Amino acid sequence: MSIPLAEVFPSVVNRRPIGVFDSGIGGLTVAAALREMLPAEDIFYIGDTARVPYGGKSASTIERYSLEISGMLLAEGAKMIVVACNTASALALPRLEELLRVPVIGVIQPGAEAAVAATRNGHVGVIATRATIQSKAYERVIQLLSPEVRVSAQACPLLVPLIEEGWLEDPVTELVIGRYLDAMVAEGIDTLVLGCTHYPLLRKVLGDYVGHEIALVDSARNCALKVDSVLKAEGISASDTHVGSLRIALTDPSSAFLRVAEEALGIHVGEVQLRAVQMINP
Ligand code: DGL
Repeated sequence: MSIPLAEVFPSVVNRRPIGVFDSGIGGLTVAAALREMLPAEDIFYIGDTARVPYGGKSASTIERYSLEISGMLLAEGAKMIVVACNTASALALPRLEELLRVPVIGVIQPGAEAAVAATRNGHVGVIATRATIQSKAYERVIQLLSPEVRVSAQACPLLVPLIEEGWLEDPVTELVIGRYLDAMVAEGIDTLVLGCTHYPLLRKVLGDYVGHEIALVDSARNCALKVDSVLKAEGISASDTHVGSLRIALTDPSSAFLRVAEEALGIHVGEVQLRAVQMINP
């Protein structure tokens, strides 16, 4: 029988931060949604900028990286781990859930739920990194939620570097988007899942390209809703009177993308800490 931590140490648990991680900076889209929806919560975010991107790596490497970064968040006192990275959610979530003794929330389930709720014609498109698409994680969850929904999936490996370069509204990015999306748009999708934490930064240009008949879905807001409900169910929400904060640590300091994301998301990043990855044996 497990006793909720909050029943034993209520004040200690409630003051602990929510640990959020991504392979890099893109997960700040999720952190921004958490800040907006849960302003009383402290958030400790780690971006694994020393090893980004995860999206072209093997399942075992992504799993190991995710365990290492989660361990670092637990060392910061995290009361929950939010995997704000689609690739890590697709490949490492079962292992994290098995090994960690705090609630673990990924972004695939919330994104899939939003897609199933949004589609009217039952045909959903998913764009993501190569590793996420190859894992078929979105298809699996969408089909469990609603077996009659058809999914068209497309890996878009060139989008992350373009976004990191800050080319959010640029003819080159539009050209690449067309190359990736034309087939699924022609097939008749009416909903498009932005299955990578970077892609919400392209929301405007993607929306302009596919037109407003196609609903764009990302997991950030739905993930924040799920975090809220788990915090409440576990009794580990921060006190309403607390003013929450966002602290950011990176495993490599060189990310120019941080400023791109800060501007595009309208969040205040403040001082960024540097953390060395605590490796576990491969
Ligand atoms: N954060 C990753 C994701 O959401 C994108 C960047 C990467 O490939 O690491 O899939």
